[in-house]
Amino acid sequence: MPPESLLADIGRAFTGMQQAREAFAPQFAPREIGTITTVSTGIATVTGLSGVGFEELVRFPGDLYGIAFNIDAQEIGVVLLGDYSHLHTGDEVTRTGRVMDVAVGEPLLGRVVDPLGRALDGKGPLGNLQRLPIERDAKAIMDRSPVSVPLQTGIKVIDALTPIGRGQRQLILGDRQTGKTAIAIDAILNQRGQNVVCIYAAIAQRASAVAKVIADLTARGAMEYSLVVVSAGNDAPGLTYIAPYAATSIAEHFMETGRDVLIVYDDLTQHARAYRELSLLLRRPPGREAFPGDIFYIHSRLLERSTHLRQELGGGSLTALPIVETEAQDIAAYIPTNLISITDGQLYLSPTLFELGVLPAVDVAKSVSRVGGAAQLAAYRTIAGNLKLAYSQFEELEAFARFGTRLDDNTRKIIEHGARLRACLKQPQFEAVPVLEQITVLLALTAGLFDDLPLELTADIERALRAATAQLAADAREHCLQSAPLSDADHSAILRVATAALAAFKKKP
Ligand SMILES: Nc1ncnc2c1ncn2[C@@H]1O[C@H](COP(=O)(O)OP(=O)(O)O)[C@@H](O)[C@H]1O
Ligand SMILES: [Mg+2]
Repeated sequence: MPPESLLADIGRAFTGMQQAREAFAPQFAPREIGTITTVSTGIATVTGLSGVGFEELVRFPGDLYGIAFNIDAQEIGVVLLGDYSHLHTGDEVTRTGRVMDVAVGEPLLGRVVDPLGRALDGKGPLGNLQRLPIERDAKAIMDRSPVSVPLQTGIKVIDALTPIGRGQRQLILGDRQTGKTAIAIDAILNQRGQNVVCIYAAIAQRASAVAKVIADLTARGAMEYSLVVVSAGNDAPGLTYIAPYAATSIAEHFMETGRDVLIVYDDLTQHARAYRELSLLLRRPPGREAFPGDIFYIHSRLLERSTHLRQELGGGSLTALPIVETEAQDIAAYIPTNLISITDGQLYLSPTLFELGVLPAVDVAKSVSRVGGAAQLAAYRTIAGNLKLAYSQFEELEAFARFGTRLDDNTRKIIEHGARLRACLKQPQFEAVPVLEQITVLLALTAGLFDDLPLELTADIERALRAATAQLAADAREHCLQSAPLSDADHSAILRVATAALAAFKKKP
């Protein structure tokens, strides 16, 4: 190579280096590094992070994150969000400058994720999705509109007597093994084709129970429009604590795009326990039942996020079905009473009814829906009034009848009628009844068409009536689904079809 070109090359390289040196402007950013002083079950205390903000995410070795929960002048108490067995005192902790967030969006449908938005179903990572903070302010009062559209569960006793509207918060409470989860799952399954996104938040449930729910949803084709957020029973209490908030942020994102969303929190008793555990470990003062002072607030700020948005904001809605497990039927315990006062109504499931085989074991007298009535389809309204009255009369008299007292004719009639109401409101799991069939059956029931038919045939009678709805004239069928009440003509049309269908049962002794 000729020496001049070599020299020119060197010269060019030299100017390049000089330019780079001039352009180099180092940026100094402070990075606070703290150290762990103690680690205990699910929490750690950290010193040296003086600038950390409340609920800021901090990072531990091994890709473990925590939330700064208690901020003191000397040290901070951090709730750990995952397995902390590898942490030691003296380990480095760094600030992240952000709060906890979760992946949101359409690709989550059909997936099973943990409260940090990581896939648990082995179907691969979720990719780069939009993220929202897990704690968000509830919608302002002016952004909300009244609950006006029903959310059909397909369960007769609920749709008729304690109806749920889109945007409502309806508590499901009862002892263990009374069918709480079963009702919530049936409600999700009935949203098929209704354009409702469903989210099941499993909060510290047994892994086998969660697996069963996922299998039920998958087998019945509900995963197409649903997703499951799981914190397992053996997860760090921090993960259990954030699970419902993360699930709600995912739900809110759908709601803000104008969709109707149904979210099930199964269950908030476990959530309260996880929070109590964390609070006690963080040495916050315990109050009633050893729960911390803000236990009401953590649930009210969660459930206040359910709403029905104004039309101008897309008209989406978020309906919540929080579940609470009572102990020995004590609905006056601390957490159940808190939640009863926060929600817009409750479904109480009675272990006594469950044992008698009255399933779903909804205790009609103790269940109420404070806003759903306004959203209920008009066709139900006349029926619901009669049904409720007859049922409560029956429950009152039933207690007397047990003593073997001789009953007058009128009382006997009420009891016989009531027994048929109860039998007819029974419904197996996974057998949703469509609106038209519910109305036909309940109308026939309240009109007394069941009364002189054998009680033990109630299930068959109901089946016959449901099949008979196919013979209803098209206009009567349509009227059942509209917002106007059924006309007298519709009533008699339905009763005529019902009477014809029941004729076959009359002949039997
Ligand atoms: N309507 C029903 N018909 C028949 N079995 C039911 C019904 N509802 C619940 N079960 C059964 O009762 C058991 C307890 O229900 P589950 O929903 O798990 O109770 P919980 O969530 O209150 O502990 C389950 O085995 C379930 O299959
Ligand atoms: Mg359950």
